[in-house]
Amino acid sequence: MAESFSPERLCADKAARYAELALEIASVLDGEPDRTARMATVSSMLRQAFEHFFWVGFYVVDPTRERELVVGPYQGTLGCLRIAYGRGVCGTAAAEMRCLIVEDVEAFPGHIACDSRSQSEIVLPVRDGAGQLIAVLDVDAVTPAAFDQVDAAGLAHILSQTFEV
Ligand code: SME
Repeated sequence: MAESFSPERLCADKAARYAELALEIASVLDGEPDRTARMATVSSMLRQAFEHFFWVGFYVVDPTRERELVVGPYQGTLGCLRIAYGRGVCGTAAAEMRCLIVEDVEAFPGHIACDSRSQSEIVLPVRDGAGQLIAVLDVDAVTPAAFDQVDAAGLAHILSQTFEV
């Protein structure tokens, strides 16, 4: 018999998918210390794992510029190259060192529209083993309100196991 729709089960399925993916990513990256290789792999595997992830990638802290992010490894259509701290969703997440979930990008003041198909997004700070900000992870979806606390927890776990080492 087909199981009926349940938001609880959808959440449990999503959490399980993140847990599985975290193991797959750890296994692929085992023994690989290069940060660019790690970011590229995380972007690719996240993009492939969730169909509605339209753009997945990193904006990296540029050590040569004052409070500025520069685009790093990503999967998706052309992203803007540089974002100052405090600008857009990525710059705000970097300046405030916190995860931002944006249900409707049009409603976020200063949102930077790299592709008009993007409707919602989640951005998380990425830290190294010393707790220093090294990048932000930006995931955009073509559907509104695509991200919730399950995504925030699943992504934060993948970031901490991959970069806080
Ligand atoms: N929307 C982001 C900019 C990056 S792109 O979407 C790839 C922002 O407002 O920070």
